[in-house]
Amino acid sequence: MFTRKLLWLAALAMIAALAVAIGSIGMQSEPWRLEPDDAQVVALGRQVYEARCASCHGVRLEGQPNWRRPGPDGLLPAPPHDASGHTWHHPDELLFRITKLGVARAANLQNHASAMPAFEGVLSDAEIVASLSWIKSQWPASVRARHDELNARARAAP
Ligand code: HEC
Repeated sequence: MFTRKLLWLAALAMIAALAVAIGSIGMQSEPWRLEPDDAQVVALGRQVYEARCASCHGVRLEGQPNWRRPGPDGLLPAPPHDASGHTWHHPDELLFRITKLGVARAANLQNHASAMPAFEGVLSDAEIVASLSWIKSQWPASVRARHDELNARARAAP
């Protein structure tokens, strides 16, 4: 009887260890996953956004005026990050890559000049995810739901 109990316990411990291992693999392979429902992440993200993004993308995510047309310098102005922009048309991974690497490297465009800085070396991955999570937390529920669907499709794609 006693050994059977021990075997059960050992089996349960193994299942628990396996679950933890699978969980951490999931987290490592998707460091870009936005967490708009995590209050702590969103609070940090708001600070990062105000310090690093708001000067161009606007305090209320409104972007710069006439953002669809290049300015006198030939560069596109900063687009809005609210529901009127196209930030939510991109899955988490691309938003993360654009913010970390800049538009050209994120989109594999060799000659794309852009006013969007690359934040690699300036912000940690966690701070980048936080700023984008805060942005997502500000979208209306319907836009958030569509963005969730888009992420699910992007994840399912080979
Ligand atoms: C110096 C101004 C500036 C700052 C600061 C800035 N951005 Fe941008 N951002 C831009 C511009 C300009 C674009 C459009 C660039 C292009 O298309 O070439 C852009 C584009 C983006 C896009 C792509 C949006 C889309 O719809 O395709 C994302 C995502 C983004 N920025 C996130 C951020 C985040 C997050 C921060 C802060 C951590 C930030 N940006 C800070 C200027 C800025």
